[in-house]
Amino acid sequence: MKAYRASLLSFAPDSESGPCAALEEDGLLVVGPDAAGRQRVLASGPYQLLKARFQGVPTEHLPGRIIAPGFIDMHNHFAQTNVIGSPADGLLPWLEHYTFPEEQRFSSAQYSAEAARFFLDELLRNGVTTALTFGTCSTESVEALFCAAQQRCMRLISGLCLMDRHAPAGVLNRAAPDGSRNACEQSLLDSEALLQRWHGKDRLGYAITPRFAPSCSDQQLRGAGELAQRYPEVWIQSHVAENRDEIAWARQLFPSSRSYLATYADAGLLRRRAVYAHCLHFDDQDRALLRSSGAVAAVCPTSNLFLGSGFFDYGAADRAGLQYGLASDVGGGTSFSPFHTMLAAYYVARESQGKAGRSLSPQQLWWQHTAGAARALGLDGVVGNLQPGCEADFVVLNPQATPLLARRSAQAGNLDELLFSMIVLGDDRLIERTVISQAQEALFTIDGP
Ligand code: GUN
Ligand code: ZN
Repeated sequence: MKAYRASLLSFAPDSESGPCAALEEDGLLVVGPDAAGRQRVLASGPYQLLKARFQGVPTEHLPGRIIAPGFIDMHNHFAQTNVIGSPADGLLPWLEHYTFPEEQRFSSAQYSAEAARFFLDELLRNGVTTALTFGTCSTESVEALFCAAQQRCMRLISGLCLMDRHAPAGVLNRAAPDGSRNACEQSLLDSEALLQRWHGKDRLGYAITPRFAPSCSDQQLRGAGELAQRYPEVWIQSHVAENRDEIAWARQLFPSSRSYLATYADAGLLRRRAVYAHCLHFDDQDRALLRSSGAVAAVCPTSNLFLGSGFFDYGAADRAGLQYGLASDVGGGTSFSPFHTMLAAYYVARESQGKAGRSLSPQQLWWQHTAGAARALGLDGVVGNLQPGCEADFVVLNPQATPLLARRSAQAGNLDELLFSMIVLGDDRLIERTVISQAQEALFTIDGP
C-alpha cells in the first residue's frame, strides 16, 4: 500500500448529466493491490479526513502538485509516429504519399518492436495511460505492440488492420503463404487468432479493425461483422465521415447503403464497444443510428484541423445523445499531448461558420479525455477517474513547469480557470510523472523532465 498527498482532480462517478470535476486542494490518494495483485485506488479524499485511517502507510508528499487520472486516447495509429506533420492536400493524398509507404515497413517484426516501444513511451511521457490503437495489416505489428504494452502493464486495445484492396500490395493484408486462402480469408483468421491470444490478457483488449469501408472488400467488411457478432465483448474500431472525397468514394463503393455510416451497420459493425473516429459529415439520421446502436465517436481535433477534414459538431452530437471522447489520431493528428488535443477541441467547438459555435468548458474538455472517454469505451469505474476501485493509473502535474504556466495558473480564481491555464499552456513538461497500475507491489512510473 502507498499513499500520495497532493491536490486531487477527479470527476463525479455518475457523470451522465455531464462532467462534474472536483479539486481536493489537500488530498490523499491511497493505492494498493486487489485480490489479483493489481494496484487500485483504495481511497481518495481530503487528507485531514483520511490520514488517521491510513496512519503508517508510506506517504509521498507532493506539495504544489496535482494528481489527476491518466488520460485516455480513444484513437491513434502506432505505425504513424514517423508521419506526423506530413503535409498533403487532404486525407486521401496523405494516406497515399506518406502513410501507406510508412506502414509497409511494419511487416518487419524488428521495425515494429522499436516503433512500438517509442510510441508507448511517448504516450506515457505525455500522460496517456489507456489507448485504442490501430495496428497495421501485418500480424507482426500487432504482436509487437501488444508485447510492448504488456511489458509496461498498460491498458491498451488494438487489432490487426483489415484492408484487402485499394492500396499498394505491400500495405494490404497478405494471402496465406501456401495460397490456400486469399488475403480476406487470411486476415479474418489472423484477427481471430490474435483476439484469442491477447483479449483479456493482463490489461490488454482486442479491437476488430477494418481500416475504413473503402479499403475493405464487401466480403472482408461482412467477415469483420460476423467476427464482431461472435465476440461481443471485444471492441471494433474504424474511421467514418472524415473527408468529403472519402465519403464520395465510400458511397460509390457501397451504393446500396443509405450513408457511409450505414455501410458499417449493414455489415454488422455498429454495436456497443464500436468506436468510430471522426464522425464529422453526419446527418441527423447518422447520429440517431450511431446512438441507437450503442457505438461511439472518437473526436480527433488536431487531425481534423491539420488535414482540413472539417469540424466535429458538438451541439448536434449532444442533441442526438451521442457518446464521444477525445483522441490524438497520431499521425494525422499533430501531437501526443492531451493538452494540445483539448485545446484543439476547444477551437473546433468555437468554429461558427459551418455550425453554431460554442465554448466547451475546461471541465468538459478534461472529462472527454479521461472519465468521459472511459465511459464511451465501456471502461467507466475501471480507468479515467480516481474513485475507489479504479485502476491506479494517474499523472502528477506540476503547474510550475514553465514560467508562463506558473504565472498564469497562479492567477486562477477557480477550478475552470486553473484547468484552462493548463489546457492552453500545457504540454509534456506539465506531466511530472506518469504512474501505471501494475500487477506487482511496485508501481511503474515514468518521470518527466
Ligand atoms: N482513414 C483511413 N485510414 C486513415 C488513417 O490512417 N488516418 C486517418 N486520419 N483517417 C484514415
Ligand atoms: Zn485514424
